[in-house]
Amino acid sequence: MLTTPAVQVLERERAVYERRTPTSRDRYARAQAVFPGGDTRAATFYLPYPATIAETAGTRLVDVDGNEYVDFLFNYTSMIVGHAHPAVTEVVGAAFSRTTPVAAPVLGQVELAEEIVRRVPSIEQLRFTNSGTEATMGATRIARAATGRDIVIKTIGGYHGSFPDLDYWLRPDAYPAGIPETSPIRVIHYNDPDALEAVLGDCGDRCAALIIEPVMGTAGVILPTEEFLQAARELTQAAGVLLIADEVITFRLGRGGAQQRLGIEPDLTTLGKVIGGGLPVGAVGGPASLMGVLAPGADKAVALSGTFNGNASTMAAGLATLGLLDDDAYAGLDGLGAQLAAGLEAAIGRHGAPAQVTSMGSLVNVHFTTEPLINADASLGADADAAAAFHLGLLNRGIFIATRGMFAVSTVTTEAEVERAVAASSELFEALA
Ligand SMILES: Cc1ncc(COP(=O)(O)O)c(C=O)c1O
Repeated sequence: MLTTPAVQVLERERAVYERRTPTSRDRYARAQAVFPGGDTRAATFYLPYPATIAETAGTRLVDVDGNEYVDFLFNYTSMIVGHAHPAVTEVVGAAFSRTTPVAAPVLGQVELAEEIVRRVPSIEQLRFTNSGTEATMGATRIARAATGRDIVIKTIGGYHGSFPDLDYWLRPDAYPAGIPETSPIRVIHYNDPDALEAVLGDCGDRCAALIIEPVMGTAGVILPTEEFLQAARELTQAAGVLLIADEVITFRLGRGGAQQRLGIEPDLTTLGKVIGGGLPVGAVGGPASLMGVLAPGADKAVALSGTFNGNASTMAAGLATLGLLDDDAYAGLDGLGAQLAAGLEAAIGRHGAPAQVTSMGSLVNVHFTTEPLINADASLGADADAAAAFHLGLLNRGIFIATRGMFAVSTVTTEAEVERAVAASSELFEALA
């Protein structure tokens, strides 16, 4: 039977991986009994089975078989100052000893909120949640309550958390089970201002909000065009529709997030990941005039609660993490990201591999396609065997990335580690060319 080079590389890398990870395989067998499909988080699963990680420190991960990896995923971009940073672990330990979750305002909440408000001019007030999913869910509720309208527009392939409405059209042609077809969601392609104009015209005064990622994350670090961002702002404003910037990933791109970097002025912003310093977190924020619907006793009050919202440990971890993220830190992250992207591009060019790189700041993505990467179509249509071979091949070479080809760097990542990732990738590009 004819096999492609990608399938051959995948089979070879898979055999190596299985030899290196027998204990992870045993744990996967146990996990299959208690978790559907053997994992408790969709994004961490890959075939033949994921490596179980036993230890994390800085950029270093160690699996249960003793294999070491340099982390280039950082819990899907959240551990921006690396794992177990002493400045974070110390304050988390102290906060948890002093104040375990309690049904009351606690120290650290106002402080972290003030720090975020200082960084993001479009946010006057915010509410903390326990995940980015809850933040985007909250943002759509606030938008619907504030406008009295129901339709939310999202982008095809845009991931905003595991929440029924916004799961709609996560993948083209996939209508996820369990979502009522009456769900008032409309979709457009990313970077398609004409489609946005048409949908807004179509929805008329039923349209509450447009939610976009300033840079598409899950779809593969797809960059926005200036024209699209401008249309997203101007067309929504003209139609009385709120613009929600989902910055759960992209907040890592600058002191004030991607909105500052790209000059976006959203009505509502959702945050997560880095603002919790490694503990579960989310936040939704915006001007007091919109956020007011969350105020107890407000006219159109929306109750957005959560048993662990704003717990002292998460607040302490978030505050310590943001405290480490000054202008020098962002310059360092950008420098490492640029080094990585340039190294990967050069290696692809050298070997003539059918791949491309997209990147902004500390986020970099390799795509096994030569189609233009302007929306989710090209990245979702990329060569899945090549991507899987690349991912497993990098694991076998001690480099830990996302199955979708995404790399992220942290403030403790070194230039030497970036070079190592580029060298390992280069071997795989050569094999896959
Ligand atoms: C853009 C975006 N929004 C929302 C979410 C959901 O965040 P969480 O996983 O914390 O629920 C994610 C998660 O990756 C995301 O990338």
